[in-house]
Amino acid sequence: MKLGLSRACLYSCSCAPIFSSSMPSLTTIKPKIPVFLRPPTYLVTSLDLQKWHGWAKNLASSVGSSLVESDNGPDSTLLCREINWLLEDSLENRSSSSRFSFSQYKYDTSGKNESVMLRISLDDLYQLWKQRIEERRPFQYIVGCEHWRDLVLSVQEGVLIPRPETELIVDLVHDVVSNYEELGQGMWADVGTGSGAIAIGIRRIFGSYARVIATDLSPVAVSVATFNVQRYGLQDVIEVRQGSWFEPLKDVEGQLVGIVSNPPYIPSDNISGLQAEVGRHEPRVALDGGASGMDYLLHLCNGAAAMLKPGGFFAFETNGEKQCEFLIDYMQNDIAGSFCNLNIVSDFAGIQRFVTGFRQ
Ligand SMILES: C[S@@+](CC[C@H](N)C(=O)[O-])C[C@H]1O[C@@H](n2cnc3c(N)ncnc32)[C@H](O)[C@@H]1O
Repeated sequence: MKLGLSRACLYSCSCAPIFSSSMPSLTTIKPKIPVFLRPPTYLVTSLDLQKWHGWAKNLASSVGSSLVESDNGPDSTLLCREINWLLEDSLENRSSSSRFSFSQYKYDTSGKNESVMLRISLDDLYQLWKQRIEERRPFQYIVGCEHWRDLVLSVQEGVLIPRPETELIVDLVHDVVSNYEELGQGMWADVGTGSGAIAIGIRRIFGSYARVIATDLSPVAVSVATFNVQRYGLQDVIEVRQGSWFEPLKDVEGQLVGIVSNPPYIPSDNISGLQAEVGRHEPRVALDGGASGMDYLLHLCNGAAAMLKPGGFFAFETNGEKQCEFLIDYMQNDIAGSFCNLNIVSDFAGIQRFVTGFRQ
């Protein structure tokens, strides 16, 4: 698994930031506030910031393509782009209310060495960039957010950074509710929700009556998903529950019109070979799918048969062609009669990625 490192979209989110004071007491873990949502309280001189910038670029350049060669990690060009993104998130933007591009930023050249306001201290900037290069800490954990579809989602250690390929699940659900309107008005579940990405993405395309229940075993994920749901003002229509797979959904057994999931599906032996940003920093509970990677996908298939209403839809993400074919074979033979209209869907890279179908 490679960590997608593109900043997909500009900050088009118009939702109001919420802070920990308005969080429910769902879990005791307090979510971290992403850098771009923090108040700009640190005054630094333009010269000191330029000094940091030069130091950060030198460190990034020293990497060259060595990380690409070792484990398909980032090269200097990408790292230099990340420096600009880090500055975009850290600097107070005084020119307009919209986000700005650092490439348009001009350091003070008047000789007056004017001050600028930052959302994190200069010391933290030095420390964070050292962590990025020396420890391979993922950029998204450094800035505390990831751009996913038109969303800017809060992420932190303990929560999987949502991947670009997973964005397609929202399109698959959009297609299905366009064809079967009643599905867009019922109750859905996103199991193993992580940051809440899929739950938020699908809820935004449903009619006003639809509800989504998002579950996760990890208390950090539950806390971060709750934060993201609230930031997008969806707390009345998305409920975040903690527990293992369908266990927190017993009260809605047989009532769901849709289930979506991107479960852990990497075979255990493959985890050590992952890009350092992923293998060293992302939670193992979000990656490891057991010896063949299929443990949770099979569990989801079995559970979905009991959880879905007849005619209900499911979409599961997999590791690729082999897992897709295994799942289809399992559903057609081992649990024959449970599902129909089974389909394999490829991602943007042409990799067979998703299995979809309907409860018979
Ligand atoms: C591959 S991550 C996907 C996260 C998110 N849905 C996404 O696409 O970005 C798998 C998620 O499953 C969760 N998970 C692992 N074991 C679980 C279990 N037994 N019950 C519920 N969730 C679990 C992990 O905590 C993680 O958030």
